[in-house]
Amino acid sequence: MNDIIEIIKSRRTIKSFEAKFLSWEQVAKILDAGRHAPSSGNLQNWKFIAVLEPDLKTKLAEATHDQFNIAMASVLIIVCAEPEKAERYFGARGERLYTIQNCAAAIQNMLLEAHSLGLGGCWVGAFNEDKIKEICGIPAIVRPQAIVAIGYAKEVPNKPAKFPLETVVYFNKWKNKLRDPEKYSQNYSAILARKAGAAKEKLDQFKKDIVGKF
Ligand SMILES: Cc1cc2nc3c(=O)[nH]c(=O)nc-3n(C[C@H](O)[C@H](O)[C@H](O)COP(=O)(O)O)c2cc1C
Repeated sequence: MNDIIEIIKSRRTIKSFEAKFLSWEQVAKILDAGRHAPSSGNLQNWKFIAVLEPDLKTKLAEATHDQFNIAMASVLIIVCAEPEKAERYFGARGERLYTIQNCAAAIQNMLLEAHSLGLGGCWVGAFNEDKIKEICGIPAIVRPQAIVAIGYAKEVPNKPAKFPLETVVYFNKWKNKLRDPEKYSQNYSAILARKAGAAKEKLDQFKKDIVGKF
């Protein structure tokens, strides 16, 4: 899979994993993708804890309000933020906003790299922060932002509905909507290409549903 937009669109949140190991090379590639994310002032105020040890994975899963499925993932990557670094450079905005955005960019990079390697991933944000810190000995000033669970997908869910462009895009001013954004730029070939793409997506989904039924 090479086309970035195909990787972005076909990535799914995976919640069930095969009991299989990943090679260190696979894990390293995913961590490396996180490291290359953009960050405010290139601060890179993150640390990634890769947890491969089964007992620790089980304890972490317990701390995610019992999302035990993630204990089966081959690796759990705890993405930790170092907010004080961003505060030093950018004040409250750095601490409260940039820090979160930096880590989110790293997380998404990891999920996309995992997917491009044929693996599945889950961004886990629901957890008891204090328990995660205690389990992994994370200092008080560091904040775990997410656990990225990675492994071989047992099941890939259907794509959940995503709002169409028309719903999420305004032009020039808040709430200024155009029914068909492409018409704005008189890009009729793009309209046709998009409609053809949507029809193909529907057909592919239909084929998948039929195969699943019989
Ligand atoms: C900030 C954030 C927190 C999330 N926390 C969880 C979580 O705790 N458990 C889980 O199963 N999925 C979690 N997800 C995954 C979402 O449920 C998932 O992205 C969403 O349903 C859309 O599905 P998709 O990723 O396949 O497009 C989280 C996603 C984000 C961005």
